[in-house]
Amino acid sequence: MEKASLSKSEKKYSLDSLFNPKAVAVIGASRKEGSIGYMIVKGLKEGGFEGKIYPINPNADEILGIKCYPSILDVPGEVSFAVIAVPQKLVLEVVEQCGKKGMGGVTVISSGFAEVGNIEAEKALREICDRYNMWLVGPNIIGTLSNPAKCNASFSPQLPYPGNIAFVSQSGALLIGLIGQTVIKKIGMSHVISNGNMAGLDFADFVEALDKDEHTKVICLYIEGFKDGRRFLEAAKRCSKPIVALKAGVSKRGEIATRSHTGSLAGSPKVYKSLFRQAGVLQAFTVPGLFHRAEALAHLNPMRGDNLLIITNGGGIGVLATDAAEYYGIPLQEPPKDLQDAMRKWMPEFGSPRNPVDITGMGDRESYAGALRDALTHPWTDGVVVLYCETAQTDPMDIAQGIYQVIQETKTEKPVVVAYVGGERSEAAGEWLIQHGIPFYDDPEFTMSSMGTLRERGRYLERSKANGEFEPFEVDREGVRQILDRVRSESRLSLTEYEAGMVFKCYGLPYIKSVIVNNEHEAVGAARAMGFPLALKILSPDILHKTEAKGVVLNISSEDGVRAAFDAIMHNARAYKPDARIQGILIQKMARPGPTEVIMGASKDPQFGPVVMFGLGGIFVEVLKDVSFRAAPISPAEALEMIKEIKSYEIIKGYRGKKPKHVEYLAETISRLSQLITDFPEIKEIDANPAMLYEDDLDIVDALITLEE
Ligand code: ACO
Repeated sequence: MEKASLSKSEKKYSLDSLFNPKAVAVIGASRKEGSIGYMIVKGLKEGGFEGKIYPINPNADEILGIKCYPSILDVPGEVSFAVIAVPQKLVLEVVEQCGKKGMGGVTVISSGFAEVGNIEAEKALREICDRYNMWLVGPNIIGTLSNPAKCNASFSPQLPYPGNIAFVSQSGALLIGLIGQTVIKKIGMSHVISNGNMAGLDFADFVEALDKDEHTKVICLYIEGFKDGRRFLEAAKRCSKPIVALKAGVSKRGEIATRSHTGSLAGSPKVYKSLFRQAGVLQAFTVPGLFHRAEALAHLNPMRGDNLLIITNGGGIGVLATDAAEYYGIPLQEPPKDLQDAMRKWMPEFGSPRNPVDITGMGDRESYAGALRDALTHPWTDGVVVLYCETAQTDPMDIAQGIYQVIQETKTEKPVVVAYVGGERSEAAGEWLIQHGIPFYDDPEFTMSSMGTLRERGRYLERSKANGEFEPFEVDREGVRQILDRVRSESRLSLTEYEAGMVFKCYGLPYIKSVIVNNEHEAVGAARAMGFPLALKILSPDILHKTEAKGVVLNISSEDGVRAAFDAIMHNARAYKPDARIQGILIQKMARPGPTEVIMGASKDPQFGPVVMFGLGGIFVEVLKDVSFRAAPISPAEALEMIKEIKSYEIIKGYRGKKPKHVEYLAETISRLSQLITDFPEIKEIDANPAMLYEDDLDIVDALITLEE
């Protein structure tokens, strides 16, 4: 049943047929025990799928006692989706038949497509699905699993443990392994999707669909790369549910590319970190970390402030948790006196009511419950971590039940997570807590990575409300258009510094005052008008590396110096490139003493499109790679977040008696820069490097713009 073809942007699939299927066909259902086509039918049957199962195999009458059909076109009833598990060369033909039959979509298990360079076949597969308006998951996947429908449409031996975390993974093998772990560790999943080559649905589509899914509270992603990173960021920003992502491939290789040059920073792990943060995507760095974070987000509210209280019966575990709290961005604060007084009631003389609250090894159910109740009902507290080391005289289960009772009684909205270090009794108590919806860990570090994530989610919700959307500035677009057209008409891809500076001016970026002079006489006149000290720079479309051509003289403090510099620069430029078109010499005021050198840039990331970059100049960028990114365009408030994200922010903020720099102006400038790269897609790269940031001003002293070919 061929439907009117929709363009990509119009296409809106409903994934209800995937998440809530009524009938599933397995094309390539096999009689061979243990084969993939056999395991899929077995998975559906033994997983308890209550809908219809239609095995398709022209050579078989029945498989596992279920009637077989020679082709999908012979199936009498409606089909929600088909799992395709025939060899690659048969895939296009059977998918075409699925289209004719009319169904929601197909999941293609078969390998042999783009992952082995067979791009054409993958394109054809996509085209067939588009033609019939069917969604496409895969190819090259293990399949999909949905707990609400008990639908194991994959070759995983089992469904995951039921719950409300959805998991979309680009790695199939990893996914099969993790499904087993969810059962052992009781990590509850709603839907598990292997998305393989992502020829059809990609991460953005799943985020959108799972946001609407009533069985899902948290979305977990294992990502190797994106087809369209920008679409993903936009979907993530719109998503009302927390997303936790484990991004593979964030190793040294990406880091090595990190230089002060904006273009080479693109695609680096820093880009992911910054852009995920911008879109509210919480990052995990290990598989257990992904699940710990997801568990906490699935059961608890975000942490709405920075005041975390630790209640512990052991000093060591408390110190470890304190260190971890700082590492995960929620350093412990001293609680107010009345809260400390309240804590004193629940500990012997030798306990400590400060943070961590140490109720000592004597701490039993009554003291844990009492301290937790007082902590949760005090307005200062935003979240509590309860730590317990198993002792002979206390009962871990009794304490767990006390913790649960307080959470119930107080009806607290504040997050509480628990870690026990102990033996079998502790493990049993932990299982009991998990069954009662309280995140439980066997390590204090895990409690803090979870709590840190809850705080990060809380901060994101506050920030996204406050930062607002980008609102364009009033700028001189026509002025920029004319400069770019002139450069193009001369078949150039690079603007001279002066041209780039003028583009900056059109967008309100504070390029330092500059004058072009054509002879010594003009140079001296300009110098008199500007005042010393000055910088002289060669201006030629054919000399981009001015310093290499000895075309720059700095710190000139006299008229004689101006004359000498003019002569030297002209001489050097001719020697460097005799046929260079020289447009004159640029005279600029030297920057005042005392600025902090910063760099700003913009470029096109291959995955995310236009991005802006910020960092401190010199070793901070070149050695420490201390930079942050955002997908453009961004509001000044978001730019401020970006500035605060770098580790060396203290230097801008002011320290040891030094005054803070003009951060608001800097943020507005970055926001304007983000508008420039967005408004002119033909711009490939922009560098404002360096820019001099003062307590009351900002001057960009070098400007570079290159165009796309
Ligand atoms: N329609 C339906 N069934 C058909 C058709 C047809 N037109 N033609 C043949 N069949 C039947 C066959 O008769 C066979 O059934 P039988 O065993 O009862 O005779 C069945 O379909 C399967 O066909 P085979 O030729 O036996 O294919 P095989 O099982 O060897 O392989 C598979 C098919 C599994 C799809 C394989 O080609 C493949 O791609 N394997 C890789 C899958 C994979 O690893 N995916 C990625 C996972 S991600 C990860 O990292 C693990």
